[in-house]
Amino acid sequence: MCGITGYLGKKEAVSTAVNSLKRLEYRGYDSAGIAFATPAGIEIIRAAGKIVNLENLLIIRNPVSHVAIAHTRWATHGKPCEENAHPHRDCTGRVAVVHNGIIENYLQLRTQLSKAGHLFSSETDTEAIAHLIETELPDRLVTPEEAADAIRAAFRQLHGSFAAAVLISDTPSTLYAARKDSPMVLGLGKGETLIASDIPALLSHTRSVLLMEDGDFASLSADEVKLTDLNGVAVQRSSMQVTWDDEAAERCGYPHFMLKEINECARTVRETMRGRFDKEGNPFLSEFPLTEEDREKCNQVTLVGCGTAYHAGVVAKRWFEQLLHIPVEAAFASEFRYSDPPIGPHTLAVFISQSGETADTLAAMREARKRGARTLSIVNVAGSALSRESETSILTQAGPEIGVASTKAYLAQLTLLSILGLHLAGKKSSHSSLAEGLIRIPDLLEQCLELEPQIEQLAENLINHRTFFFLGRGYDYATSLEAALKLKEISYLHAEAYPAGEMKHGPLALVEPGVAIVGLCTQIATYDKMISNLKEVKAREGTVLAILPQNVSAPDCTDYILRIPDAPDELMPFLAIVPLQLLAYHVARARGCSIDQPRNLAKSVTVE
Ligand code: M6R
Repeated sequence: MCGITGYLGKKEAVSTAVNSLKRLEYRGYDSAGIAFATPAGIEIIRAAGKIVNLENLLIIRNPVSHVAIAHTRWATHGKPCEENAHPHRDCTGRVAVVHNGIIENYLQLRTQLSKAGHLFSSETDTEAIAHLIETELPDRLVTPEEAADAIRAAFRQLHGSFAAAVLISDTPSTLYAARKDSPMVLGLGKGETLIASDIPALLSHTRSVLLMEDGDFASLSADEVKLTDLNGVAVQRSSMQVTWDDEAAERCGYPHFMLKEINECARTVRETMRGRFDKEGNPFLSEFPLTEEDREKCNQVTLVGCGTAYHAGVVAKRWFEQLLHIPVEAAFASEFRYSDPPIGPHTLAVFISQSGETADTLAAMREARKRGARTLSIVNVAGSALSRESETSILTQAGPEIGVASTKAYLAQLTLLSILGLHLAGKKSSHSSLAEGLIRIPDLLEQCLELEPQIEQLAENLINHRTFFFLGRGYDYATSLEAALKLKEISYLHAEAYPAGEMKHGPLALVEPGVAIVGLCTQIATYDKMISNLKEVKAREGTVLAILPQNVSAPDCTDYILRIPDAPDELMPFLAIVPLQLLAYHVARARGCSIDQPRNLAKSVTVE
């Protein structure tokens, strides 16, 4: 997804803004650009492809400035190329704009502006913003206050979502920023201010940050930030201190963020559980106090998310059903928002998201609120839109997740969801194996990580297979969904998940030599049935890798076996996924894929 940085202050702004932009590369992008003030006006330099292409152009130009706005673009309107790269300018070159989000009425604006004589040089929706600001600026040199008035007037005409930064040549000592439905943070340094679409871009300059909220507009000088709404009415927001250390946002010597993040799974689960058990060992959520009456009134739970977050919901559905004995649904946010969900005041609607900014999940949450459901979000980013807008928000403690493929955040989501299920069940949950076993999970995860050398060898043996099926029953089916997503998104191999019993109802027709089947056999309750299903695929000459706990004998229908630690069936979703994340990683690495930034994907999907 697109990234924004901006710098105003005593350092050289162009290189500073570009270096900050590099901290957002994980979001995925296909072009990059920068605008900066010079004595002759605003200069813009842009390049298709990676930031290094932009840097090569900057080396030739060697610009020096005290103010700059920069952008990485992930194409939505118009192909990825230099013309469509941000920043965009108006007809006069007085205005430069970078923007994340989608302007829904841009066609109407473009037609109207073109009729009035404005010339467009890109296919983007963003360019309309630059021309719109141009129409609002008086035809004379303006003050920062007058520029702010003009920009606000332009933004008031936009429908859709935006996080935007604006540079006006008349006021080179001021930067302007606005936000609606797309994240934007401001960095408050000493004699310098910064703009970014995500916190890691600010950390090498300041730990003091201010999270803009929807409808906020900021005018930044090097020493202060003035915040208003889009009508110019002053608003107050408190700044906060970021406590992540710099190391946390770096790779710490691992070849890829994904591998580093998989290796942080035990720490993540420990941190997410910290402070959530009382002296008797009962889990509780202080952010979500419940009376017995609240518990009785809740007659339905809906778990909503996208991708990996949705899969965490699929696992939790089974936990909740077992613990609560009420209807529980797991729903894709993109489907939920356009369905007619039968939810109401007695529904608890849980929204799961690493970023807390996923457009579909946010829209689904708003829909649930409209229908009167009680909304709770589980997010990894403090201050994200989802955390602010849901009635209750609980933070996972995964720390920044940089790799596009979600790994440790999934473990953190499972951890909080299991605690939420137990918290909702109250007394009913005591002595459940989930409640009793959770505390052991971090140690068992450390044991799973020790399997990496064996998994690397398995990956070598499997890379020549063109199709992968991940099969499982019960909790193992939920894990299969996530394991298949991991493999396909980073290795570009075709991978799908099926409930093992479904294979003979159709997909079995696809099994032949060259097809790999990863059979998850961790559920003791259905172990024998699972082995029968693996025999069916083995008989069709598929290559079978079985994931087994320690306490079962090896079946005779496998080519490869991977043993994970023993645990009750309910806890296996934590343990079975980590070896499969490592398998996806090593298959992708052996195939030479771009692991942390897979093609066509973005870390945070803030458009529909
Ligand atoms: O930030 P979110 O958790 O809301 O993101 C949801 C999905 O976009 C995300 O999980 C995606 O599926 C990952 N690439 C999976 O690895």
